[in-house]
Amino acid sequence: TTQFKEILVTGGVGFVGANFVHYLVATQPDVHVTVLDKLTYAGHRANLADLPAARVRLVVGDICDAVLVDQLVAGADAVVNYAAESHNDRSLLAPAPFIKTNVEGTYTLLEACRKYQVRFHQISTDEVYGDLPLVTAAEQKTAPKFTPESPYRPSSPYAASKASADLLVQSWVHSFGLPATISNCSNNFGPYQHIEKFIPRQVTNILAGRRPKLYGSGRNVRDWIATSDHSRAVWTILTQGRLGQVYLIGANQELDNLTVLRMILREMGQPEDAFDWVADRPGHDRRYAIDATKLQQELGWRPLAGDFASNLRTTIAWYQDHQDWWHNQKAAVEAAYARQGQ
Ligand code: NAD
Ligand code: DAU
Repeated sequence: TTQFKEILVTGGVGFVGANFVHYLVATQPDVHVTVLDKLTYAGHRANLADLPAARVRLVVGDICDAVLVDQLVAGADAVVNYAAESHNDRSLLAPAPFIKTNVEGTYTLLEACRKYQVRFHQISTDEVYGDLPLVTAAEQKTAPKFTPESPYRPSSPYAASKASADLLVQSWVHSFGLPATISNCSNNFGPYQHIEKFIPRQVTNILAGRRPKLYGSGRNVRDWIATSDHSRAVWTILTQGRLGQVYLIGANQELDNLTVLRMILREMGQPEDAFDWVADRPGHDRRYAIDATKLQQELGWRPLAGDFASNLRTTIAWYQDHQDWWHNQKAAVEAAYARQGQ
């Protein structure tokens, strides 16, 4: 049993939010979930379609809508905020919705949680810490990583909007004693991820007979985590984390983009060079790497999903088996990238 029976999950139709809702339904029989989601381009209703109506209710609406948020927070024991504009490339073309949803939306949730003294958890990203210098694969283990003490140094409008939201949460804790926590996680992969993102884009390119696209040098490093491990970490922090604390979530799986792309190509029976080098992302962060020691030592969490290669295989199979989920979006996503030379 848990102290939280009614949980408001904002952005719970999106990729990591929907995986968290599935996790709650599968593992927490006492919990009822209300999802508040605007159903932007990134919110596929189908992501929650197979869940029992008695356990999950979807409210279509905006986290910037203070009246609606007040009403929903009043009935919640805890709020977990996944709602966001999430894609760096989009934030470079049109930053406005990032500021609106990620900053003002978080503020709106904080004010309602303050009013009702509701437990709040902010889902954030390692990108608030900027990037790290590239190192060789052999050096990764001992080279510096992000820690909860790393300075905020966001690079993109997306990262800056998430950093702003984190700072708002910290100030609501400090000034108003809001019972809140923050987690900053590395790059997730798994089912329900939008096909604009790196791994699903390349997998669906191959399935659709298109060539995968690699930005710049392909040497940029991301620290990959199976989204199921992220969900369990968030639940651990929500139920056992110390109030006011920041926890970093990562699974020690640093890989450069070229290596990941070659793994996808090999797994899908393609030649290693069957992809296009395309224009780099402006301001492209070089390396992300998470030190999750605090989460591991304080709360006993550790990754359980298994290694990157086996989860990549499962993820590829999911996109193969769910062509209806992504197929009618593919042409428009690729046309938008093509306009940027990507
Ligand atoms: P996503 O784009 O797949 O989903 C975002 C969801 O939020 C969508 O369902 C969308 O409809 C909803 N939404 C957007 N604006 C809204 C608004 N104003 N009101 C209500 N709902 C709104 O994104 P994601 O990859 O699932 O990321 C979710 C959160 O997790 C973000 O806060 C992101 O910063 C964080 N995060 C993601 C990753 C990752 O690798 N995907 C890693 C670390 C942190
Ligand atoms: O680190 C956590 C972050 O991970 C989250 O905060 C973001 O919401 C999430 O989108 C993700 O950000 P990235 O920018 O790292 O993810 P993306 O999938 O866009 O790109 C991953 C890497 O792959 C990055 O180095 C850019 C590169 N890339 C991306 C695409 C879409 C390519 O080389 N080719 C591509 O087609």
